[in-house]
Amino acid sequence: MANFKGKKAIIFGGTSGIGLEIAKLLRTAKAEVVTVSRRGPISDENEGMQNEIADVQDRKALELLFEKHSGFDFLVNAATGGPRAVGPFLDMDLDGFQGSFAKLWGYVNSVRLGAPHMAKDGAIVLLSGYPARKPRPGALAIGTVGNAVEGFIRLAAAEIKPLRINGVCPGLIDTPMFAMEGEARENHFSSTTKDHLIPRVGKPEEVAAAAIFLLENAFVTGTIVDVDGGAILS
Ligand SMILES: NC(=O)c1ccc[n+]([C@@H]2O[C@H](COP(=O)([O-])OP(=O)(O)OC[C@H]3O[C@@H](n4cnc5c(N)ncnc54)[C@H](OP(=O)(O)O)[C@@H]3O)[C@@H](O)[C@H]2O)c1
Repeated sequence: MANFKGKKAIIFGGTSGIGLEIAKLLRTAKAEVVTVSRRGPISDENEGMQNEIADVQDRKALELLFEKHSGFDFLVNAATGGPRAVGPFLDMDLDGFQGSFAKLWGYVNSVRLGAPHMAKDGAIVLLSGYPARKPRPGALAIGTVGNAVEGFIRLAAAEIKPLRINGVCPGLIDTPMFAMEGEARENHFSSTTKDHLIPRVGKPEEVAAAAIFLLENAFVTGTIVDVDGGAILS
């Protein structure tokens, strides 16, 4: 079990899904946790954390946020960042495709503006997604964004050292990112994952555990950990 006593973590998207589970694990490991989202907490699971309101696209707000928490140790960005385009590429609205890059810009904003405020032995974790390396019908836009996120991580690692930066690449994970409910939700998860090596939807805490590993292990930088139930190999 990690012990992050004395460490301060800022978790973008720390009020839902994967980011929320990372925030909770960090609290359990005794870190001071600051979440950042547009709406603030949507459940009582963020109790015991500082919960800031900001949009990752608002650079001025991020500057103020990082100044306020200057000297922090960990930056995690799990914010979805904006709308995403799904569907067949040849029918895709190109503004929608371009708009899917809101996720990348949110990540880039937070690393560019946050890194100068971090402790020298600090660490950053970003989230990509398995469509980056597993062609899936309808997922070309988000897959392209995922590749951009993974490339950014590898290339930024050399620029921001001794800070470390790594990524987690989730498979299909059961989070509020998917709006459907009940049987439709179950059917979506089971039909999408039926050919994966581990044929089930993942849990956000399974992804969060990988983020904690990457924050804790001081010998890892510029890499991506896949937590995808073998989706990429299926
Ligand atoms: N779930 C999956 O199957 C899956 C698979 C592969 C990759 N991923 C990636 O994993 C990451 C986390 O996804 P998730 O499933 O945990 O999503 P989620 O449950 O929808 O949570 C998204 C979080 O991001 C915050 N957020 C979104 N846009 C924001 C913005 N512009 N500024 C600040 N905060 C913002 C949301 O809060 P507010 O709405 O209040 O701002 C919320 O806290 C994302 O990058 C996603 O692409 C997820």
